[in-house]
Amino acid sequence: MNAIELARAIPKAELHIHIEGSLEPELIFALAQRNGVPLAYPSVEALRAAYAFTDLQSFLDIYYAGASVLLKPQDFHDMAWAYFLRAKADNVVHTELFFDPQTHTARGVPMASVIEGLSGACKRAESELGISSALILCFLRHLSEEDAFATLEAALPYRGHFIGVGLDSSEVGHPPEKFERVFARCRELGLKLVAHAGEEGPPEYMWQAIDLLKVQRIDHGVAALQDPLLMAELAHTRMPLTVCPLSNVKLCVVKDLRDHPLKKMLDAGLCATVNSDDPAYFGGYMNANFEQTVQALDLSREDVVQLARNSVEASFVSEQRRSEMF
Ligand code: HPA
Ligand code: ZN
Repeated sequence: MNAIELARAIPKAELHIHIEGSLEPELIFALAQRNGVPLAYPSVEALRAAYAFTDLQSFLDIYYAGASVLLKPQDFHDMAWAYFLRAKADNVVHTELFFDPQTHTARGVPMASVIEGLSGACKRAESELGISSALILCFLRHLSEEDAFATLEAALPYRGHFIGVGLDSSEVGHPPEKFERVFARCRELGLKLVAHAGEEGPPEYMWQAIDLLKVQRIDHGVAALQDPLLMAELAHTRMPLTVCPLSNVKLCVVKDLRDHPLKKMLDAGLCATVNSDDPAYFGGYMNANFEQTVQALDLSREDVVQLARNSVEASFVSEQRRSEMF
């Protein structure tokens, strides 16, 4: 078995997937029709043709528009179920799903519809596919901290349905320090803490995520390569980084997959993992990310095993589930 075949077959955890970013154009059109929501594109092909991004913001504009077709619990269930089927095909055995409630509550969709729909699909994935999963509520960082507090408040009646909070959306100009107080509150509530940092933003945002937000994982973190002290800190603490190679190419964070720093991260002893981010928009799910990255960076079988091992180490599962996975 070569490294690519091994990458396909090995059991792995996916820790950086925005469930709204798994909405394929076909499902966007089906849900738009079911719910009577108008779309700005005349066809599936026209929508897919618009997926030519120049940076994070050019993607986010289309991503939030796509999510406008989600109204009912069944819609959220159907979106997540379609993702779980893809995950199963890629030998993903555990996944921690990000969701963006503010994208939905701002349109009048009740928090209950979002969480109950997603949570139902998670339960079904466990019983029908043997995939364990958990939900992580993300605050949109282009909105205010006050808005994040209100979102947390609205989600607390469903506290049992999500394990932690994250921070996503437009990074530059919205540093982690903007959310220090709401993350402190989440820490008091016993929630797990993660944040996107160092995708388009500088290493300083990663330091803030660690020192001010006290996150347990950093999402992306490719900017770390610019800061040797930060690299040493990440290696020393084994702070996990949920890296998304195809996303980084599509959003022009790296020019070419062959320039991606993933191999350097592994060689420096970082707990780097491979993830799909927004697979419907970035050209591939987990195995596409693994296959193309193994090929472009000439990763070895040992690198592949290390990546799968890291994904389990970086996950928030119980010790018992951890030992079952790897
Ligand atoms: N970065 C920031 N916010 C996001 C992303 C991303 O890659 N995907 C969905 N929301
Ligand atoms: Zn992301």
